[in-house]
Amino acid sequence: MTQSDVVVGVIGGSGLYEMDGLEDVREVSLATPFGAPSDAYITGTFAGVSMAFLPRHGRGHRISPSELNFRANIWGLKKLGATHIVSVSAVGSMREDIVPGEFVVIDQFFDRTRHRPDTFFSDGIVAHVLFADPVCPDLRLLMLEACREAGIKAHDGGTYLNMEGPQFSTRAESKIYRQWGVDVIGMTNLQEAKLAREAEMSYATLAMATDYDCWHEGHDDVTVEAVLEVAHRNVGNARAVVKAVVPKIAAGPPSRFANALEHAIMTSKEHISP
Ligand code: ADE
Repeated sequence: MTQSDVVVGVIGGSGLYEMDGLEDVREVSLATPFGAPSDAYITGTFAGVSMAFLPRHGRGHRISPSELNFRANIWGLKKLGATHIVSVSAVGSMREDIVPGEFVVIDQFFDRTRHRPDTFFSDGIVAHVLFADPVCPDLRLLMLEACREAGIKAHDGGTYLNMEGPQFSTRAESKIYRQWGVDVIGMTNLQEAKLAREAEMSYATLAMATDYDCWHEGHDDVTVEAVLEVAHRNVGNARAVVKAVVPKIAAGPPSRFANALEHAIMTSKEHISP
């Protein structure tokens, strides 16, 4: 049995700017109340499951992490009916045993951003969604299963530190993050995870390690060239995991976050007496 109402949103990071193998492909440009998403969405079906793909930084990698319109990107996926979001992202490895080229199916985030709109609620509407487990546990397990099935090594769990960027970390920061128990570092996924939760969708990250940041004495410090080189070399693996996970999502449990707002909204303008 598959759930016919499942729509899988895929956000592609550095190196993953398109998905092949989709049928009934359409390019959908959306305007949102928050402005323009990073690019047009590519919609279609894969193995009979509806999908919507968005390159996070836009085709041609035009948008810097701090300038991404996360609210527009997630709103657009919701508008296209997405129930689940699979987010693919290049990250730095903060652990010796997470070797560049390997994947990490993370389960936690740590916020080190400074100035990014990351909620749909403001201006008289107060809501506090639960976020202790920021990654959907069901989707995470399906992703691990998909990695196994595709024969691709993946680390089970890890904390993703979301830094502001666009500069990479200082060596002191990198060493301190390791002491904090951070496993990988990136610039984009936490805001997506927060907004996906507020928009009542399941969200999980497939993090691809591309470098050892700047803490490892035996390896060169991270550079853009190194990130893109490793990301391009491994993009086939990322696509294989996405293709393996999509039918699993349709056959799996419905999103456990479909009613995430049920007990979250405290006040809204409508409820305030004049
Ligand atoms: N993305 C890939 N590698 C990274 C790093 N070392 N720091 C932040 N973001 C990254």
